[in-house]
Amino acid sequence: MPRGATLAACMALIVAFVIFAGAPAARADGNARSTTTANPAAAPEKVIPKKVIIDTDPGTDDALAILLALNSPELDVRALTVVPGNVTAQQGLENALKLASLANRCDIAIAGGAQHPLFQKLTTAELWHGANGLANVELPPSKCKADPRFGPDLIIQMIHESPHEITLVPVGPLTNIALALLKDPSIVPLVKEVVIMGGSITGGNVNAAAEANIYNDPEAAQIVFHAGWRLTMVGLDVGDKTLFDQAHLDQLSKTHGPENDFVVKVLIFLLGQEAKYGSGGGSPMYDPLAVGTAIDPSIVSTQPMHVDVESRGEFTRGETVANRRNAVERNVLHGDRYIIEGIDHVDPNVQVATGVNAEEFLQLLISRLAGK
Ligand code: BDR
Ligand code: CA
Repeated sequence: MPRGATLAACMALIVAFVIFAGAPAARADGNARSTTTANPAAAPEKVIPKKVIIDTDPGTDDALAILLALNSPELDVRALTVVPGNVTAQQGLENALKLASLANRCDIAIAGGAQHPLFQKLTTAELWHGANGLANVELPPSKCKADPRFGPDLIIQMIHESPHEITLVPVGPLTNIALALLKDPSIVPLVKEVVIMGGSITGGNVNAAAEANIYNDPEAAQIVFHAGWRLTMVGLDVGDKTLFDQAHLDQLSKTHGPENDFVVKVLIFLLGQEAKYGSGGGSPMYDPLAVGTAIDPSIVSTQPMHVDVESRGEFTRGETVANRRNAVERNVLHGDRYIIEGIDHVDPNVQVATGVNAEEFLQLLISRLAGK
C-alpha cells in the first residue's frame, strides 16, 4: 500500500475512534448516555437530560407530576402546555404558573391551549381535585408569566427546533396534541416518543369503560393514538397499582421545603378523598407515573397492542379498545351468513403498560420531592 494511502487509512481510523469514543452510547430503551471517558470507572456516568413537553390539566396529581419532572435531572422540561380537563383552561393555566413559580422555574415556557374538547362539552373534576384543582391549597401568586403562544403552536415550534429530541408527556385530555397534529402532521417523525397518562384495558374510572383523560376528548385521543409515532400508554391498569399511602406520607412529612410541604398538603387531601370515595388503600399516582416512565422506562413493563378509541358506543364512548392478539377474523358474507375465511394481522400502535414496579416508583417520587 502506498505511504499516502497508509497515512490516510490511519487518519480515518483515528477520526473514527474519536467519533466513536465521544458518541452517545445507545441503550436498549432508546435513552442516550454520554460516555465522556475511556475508563467508565474513572467518572460517574453523565446523563443527557431528555427534553420533554408536559401537556397538563393541573390537577392534584398533575401538580405532583410537574414537580417530579422539575426535580429530576433525567428530564429537561421545555414547556408546560395547559389543556382543560380537571379544571377549566383558565384555572389550569393559573395553576401551572403557580407550580412553576413554586419550583423557581419561570424559565420554562408555560402556555394555554384549547378552551374545550374537539367535539363535546368540557367535564371538569373539582369533586376529585378541589375547587381550585390543587386540593384547595392556596399557593402564592405566580412570579412566572404565561407564554403568549397558543399551546399546540408552541408544541409544533419546539418539535421543529429540536427534531427527534422531544418526548411529549400528555397527562390530560389529548385535545392540544390532536390540534398540533391536525395543524402540522409533519411533526410525527420528528417526535422522539409520546408517553401518555390515559386509557385502560381493564375498565374505566369515569364509568365502567372509560378513563377520564380519554373520556374528556375521545376524538382527540383517536387522532393521537393513530398518528404513527411511538406511543406508550400509562393507563389506569398500572396507575391503580401505585398507591401512595399513609406510610409514604409519613416518610415525606419528615422533610420540609416549599414544594415538599405543598405536596404533603395535596397528598393529605388525596388520602382523604380515597377514604371518602375509594378503597382507602392509598391514592393512585396516575400522572406522576407517566413522568416516572419518561424518567426511567424500566419502571413499567409494556406490551404492543392495536388500540382504538371508541367514540360511538352507548356505554363505551371513550374506552380504549385494545387488541391483545393483534389479529381480527376475516368474516366474509356468503349468501345469508358470514364465514370466517382467515385471520388478519393488525399492527400494534401502542405500547401498553401492563406492569409496574410500584414501590420503586413511589420511592423515586418521594426522593425527588423530599426537602425541596
Ligand atoms: C387522570 O384523570 C385526571 O383526573 C388525573 O389528573 C389523571 O390525569 C386519571 O384518570
Ligand atoms: Ca391530569
